[in-house]
Amino acid sequence: MTTETKIIVSDVSKTFVLHNQNGITLDVLSNANFSVASGECVVLNGRSGSGKSTLLRALYANYLVDTGNIEVEHQGRWVNIAKAQPREIINVRKHTIGWVSQFLRVIPRISAFGSRDAADVRNGWLSSSS
Ligand SMILES: Nc1ncnc2c1ncn2[C@@H]1O[C@H](COP(=O)(O)OP(=O)(O)O)[C@@H](O)[C@H]1O
Ligand SMILES: [Mg+2]
Repeated sequence: MTTETKIIVSDVSKTFVLHNQNGITLDVLSNANFSVASGECVVLNGRSGSGKSTLLRALYANYLVDTGNIEVEHQGRWVNIAKAQPREIINVRKHTIGWVSQFLRVIPRISAFGSRDAADVRNGWLSSSS
């Protein structure tokens, strides 16, 4: 780990079991490995249904993974998002990691700029009237 590295994904796998379709198992992520450094712009490229959104949701702890670790540098220490307690995940979301949806209306009647600023308003870093 270098000091510049901010996210380390190692051996992450994720399956979905479709219980309403005879228990079919979808192997969506299989041993995903990558890291992201500060200032780096990373593009996740792949055909529709290849697991891009699943991986991003796992990075945000919306989806639990079956195996592997998702380590995020949070306030000077490493937090393993794949195994962290809910309280810790809330704290990481509040201060370290954000999510912008591909869908335009993330929050009804709130503009994209408003959605982007919501966390800063919540944290008191930005006035809701500005
Ligand atoms: N919550 C879910 N339950 C069951 N299957 C899912 C779920 N989310 C995604 N999938 C399936 O996982 C696969 C990858 O989907 P997704 O991550 O949305 O792909 P992408 O974002 O690359 O288009 C697809 O086959 C999709 O149907
Ligand atoms: Mg997607």
